[in-house]
Amino acid sequence: MAHLRIPSADRVIDDVESIRRFLLPHGIHYDCWPVAGRVGRDASQEEILAAYAPEVEALKASGGYITADVVNVTPDVPGLQEMLNKFNQEHRHAEDEVRFIVKGRGIFYIHPENGDEVFSIEIGEGDLINVPAGTKHWFDLCADRTIRAIRLFREKAGWTPQYTGDGIASGYQPLCFGPNHIAVKGFRIEQAAAIAA
Ligand SMILES: [Fe+2]
Repeated sequence: MAHLRIPSADRVIDDVESIRRFLLPHGIHYDCWPVAGRVGRDASQEEILAAYAPEVEALKASGGYITADVVNVTPDVPGLQEMLNKFNQEHRHAEDEVRFIVKGRGIFYIHPENGDEVFSIEIGEGDLINVPAGTKHWFDLCADRTIRAIRLFREKAGWTPQYTGDGIASGYQPLCFGPNHIAVKGFRIEQAAAIAA
């Protein structure tokens, strides 16, 4: 279940068809695949790719993707924050960023080239998104710091981030972190201010 937010307009879109319609002019494809009973909680990469083979093969054929793999991120992954820091700054890729979420949640921020306002799309289990090559965007995980996703590639090298150097991402809250994160962050700011004083 995805949530699309336009922070500047204080607008949230939760309906699948409305999300699709909103994303279409930006060249972003969004879809939902059925997930019930397809894989166990701790399925291996091979089991996941086998379970979703019909959809993955159809995507490969329609999008020209050559390979698929499964990325598995959990809170105890060594160097997790350093890894996330590579993607939570505005960047582009030379190829499409195609992700199908098997488990966990994440949030993409999109900075449209046409001057439209920045919007975010939070995606979770069963959501497929294709952010086209060249799209300015950034990404972060949600509160559980967990994501398991199928990725599709033409060339893995094309997925290297090309940073824009724009610090725009720092002005946006990772909304899917929820009120607890905001409270903790606020506490830290107050604590830092107290120490500085
Ligand atoms: Fe990216």
